[in-house]
Amino acid sequence: MKTEKHDAIVLSSADEKSVNRHFVEQLHAAPLPDDELLANLGLFLTSKNLSRILFFNEIYKKIVTTHGVICEFGVRWGQTLSLLSALRGIYEPFNRHRKIVGFDTFAGFVGLDADKDGPLCQCRDGSFSVSQDYARYLDQILAMQEALNPIPHLKKWELVQGDAAQTIPDYLRRHPETLVSLAIFDFDIYQPTRCALEAIKPHLFKGSVLVFDELCDDIFPGETIALREVFGTENLRIQRHPTTARVSYVVLE
Ligand SMILES: C[S@@+](CC[C@H](N)C(=O)[O-])C[C@H]1O[C@@H](n2cnc3c(N)ncnc32)[C@H](O)[C@@H]1O
Repeated sequence: MKTEKHDAIVLSSADEKSVNRHFVEQLHAAPLPDDELLANLGLFLTSKNLSRILFFNEIYKKIVTTHGVICEFGVRWGQTLSLLSALRGIYEPFNRHRKIVGFDTFAGFVGLDADKDGPLCQCRDGSFSVSQDYARYLDQILAMQEALNPIPHLKKWELVQGDAAQTIPDYLRRHPETLVSLAIFDFDIYQPTRCALEAIKPHLFKGSVLVFDELCDDIFPGETIALREVFGTENLRIQRHPTTARVSYVVLE
């Protein structure tokens, strides 16, 4: 099942979708005053959505004692980046080296491979797009996240727009100092995932955490194929957290 506007996949049942629609109507019609709205967003957090936040909280705790930046490969609306910025504010508000870098076309998939990505996702280049000029909106959100935490005058995030095949190697050429403490792979598809894995490999170290959104997922087989080709999977301890079904992680040993 696809979303109406941006060709994204939703696996919810009809009943779930109906309750979700009511939730969204109630969110739009919220009778809360503006100055109490942000503090009460938990009203609208469902178990499914909360589970992902709990997962990233556990992951963040694993990197607090390691050095390096956070990279998200596949940002889309940027919820994970914003959440990570908030977690940095909680766990290590003075760590100016913990830059958060997000890579995305902000125009949906680029590089879908009919063979490696298979038929089940029924996607095309351009699927999982976002609204026009979305990167600029997200930039403002991330600026506000930083403004509410210590040392806001030191910018600690970057959005890198364009096809990952070019932008990731370019970014790392511009930033040869980069160590990656946390890499989140969520391009969904083979080609950009493979490019990202190859590009960051020399920037990883024992203790780096790699998060994968689609390993062992038959709808998006390309992510697993890319990991197997670049790192092999037989020596990786691929773990999951009880709160989420799909997301997995590896701590490099
Ligand atoms: C599933 S979404 C990411 C969701 C996001 N991580 C989150 O937590 O909400 C996949 C993203 O990968 C991006 N993407 C796919 N192919 C790409 C490519 N070749 N270069 C850059 N971004 C790409 C798409 O634009 C899309 O936003």
